[in-house]
Amino acid sequence: MTTADQLIIFDTTLRDGEQSPGASMTKDEKLRIARALEKLRVDVIEAGFPIASHGDFEAVKAVAETIKDSTICGLARALEKDIVCAGEALKAANSGRIHTFIATSPIHMEKKLRMSPEQVLEQAVWAVRKARDYCDDVEFSPEDAGRSEIDFLCRVLEAVIDAGARTLNIPDTVGYAMPHQFGNLIAQLRERIPNADKAVFSVHCHNDLGLAVANSLAAVRNGARQVECTINGLGERAGNAALEEVAMAVRTRQDLFGCDTRLDTTQIVACSRLVSGITGFPVQPNKAIVGANAFAHESGIHQDGVLKHRETYEIMRAQDVGWTQNRMVLGKHSGRNAFRVRLQELGIALDSEEELNAAFSRFKDLADKKHEIFDEDLQALVTDATLDASNERVKLLSLRVCSETGETPHAEVVLSVDGAERRGSDGGSGPVDATFRAIESIINSGTTLKLYSVNAITSGTDAQGEVTVRLEQGGHIVNGAGADTDIVIASAKAYLNAINKITQPRERAHPQIGDV
Ligand code: KIV
Ligand code: ZN
Repeated sequence: MTTADQLIIFDTTLRDGEQSPGASMTKDEKLRIARALEKLRVDVIEAGFPIASHGDFEAVKAVAETIKDSTICGLARALEKDIVCAGEALKAANSGRIHTFIATSPIHMEKKLRMSPEQVLEQAVWAVRKARDYCDDVEFSPEDAGRSEIDFLCRVLEAVIDAGARTLNIPDTVGYAMPHQFGNLIAQLRERIPNADKAVFSVHCHNDLGLAVANSLAAVRNGARQVECTINGLGERAGNAALEEVAMAVRTRQDLFGCDTRLDTTQIVACSRLVSGITGFPVQPNKAIVGANAFAHESGIHQDGVLKHRETYEIMRAQDVGWTQNRMVLGKHSGRNAFRVRLQELGIALDSEEELNAAFSRFKDLADKKHEIFDEDLQALVTDATLDASNERVKLLSLRVCSETGETPHAEVVLSVDGAERRGSDGGSGPVDATFRAIESIINSGTTLKLYSVNAITSGTDAQGEVTVRLEQGGHIVNGAGADTDIVIASAKAYLNAINKITQPRERAHPQIGDV
């Protein structure tokens, strides 16, 4: 494949994806996702926004130190402190990139930045030059390009190319564009900017009108050669373009796009599950490529057609995106090595021997309770094991629930809070309600429950239930996840996971808010 026909995949799950309400991740979680993205052969990983908080800085630094096969990118506003901080965080990267941005739409310049267009242009050029002091690979984004005036955009982009930007990323920050319009914008920019051939055109589309993937693909049809996207379409508000959808669209319709990615698409499902498990954002069953029903045929006519000739109703092969047959992978007599090998086959890398041991001990417990263990069970179990290994203030020691026809369900819970054993009990309208109340009788968190959902990981009544809990406290939202064959225990785990996240210190700035 020549450079001209390679579509660069820039994954921003760890940066824009993390801006989804409740999707914040720890450094270790980011590292696990970064490893999975490297295995997926993503070209660029935007690991975070280093100036946003000490945690973000440390996470970008750790990803830069660990990942060697993908370029690692850090976001920076067009401000000296942001650029210096991003440069510092990326020091150890094999291949590092600074992504600097400033808004160019009239509404953002006037109402948010309170800067004139000339000041914005000058600041953009200054920022790109400054970023070039730290690395050769500099990307520039005119924020809210989708609502910017094209003449002004052309002037800014021409000037930043001269200043040393190698990638020009055109964001539809508020998801306002229509595909024909956005495609046309890319074509116009490429045509009108005299030095356009000196940079790669990239796009970054938000999904407010459900058009992020369509807009990204329209841009690719018009010469964009980098797409910014996220696993499962995670991201600010309605999210970003879903990586799996963009990648499979260009691969499946080579006849239309004339370019392809370097991705090992067989890693897609593993990445999707990992991100969903870590963030607590479940994937809807009918989601393209990675939803549980994406390759399931319900109607008899379809089933018959697929059995006779797969391509009658399938345009992609399930195994090409990493779906495996639901099969019993391991049994209760399987050893630690077989367990480790199967995790490797699933694209799951654990950080340490302790994490492997914790996961293996959970596997043994599960194998005692559940007859057949599937790949999906292993995914959930590993997420659970790493949750446990992390530094949690509140841990579940035991839970006893009584539920009887005609009686009020009652729960008794024993927690470890900062190392001290605490007991609580309460009744509720159901066993889960009673459990949450019993937990609250101990910790009194002052949070509000915003969402509670249960999903069976596999089929059968012995399936593990995967629970997501969303809590809110003073405008701050987190998601917690937990899995167990007992859904009340899974619910308690998910609740405590959310509690542990919400009580972590927060100092994070928001990338699209700020002095510039
Ligand atoms: O949506 C947006 O404009 C962004 C920029 C920082 C690229 O996320
Ligand atoms: Zn964005």
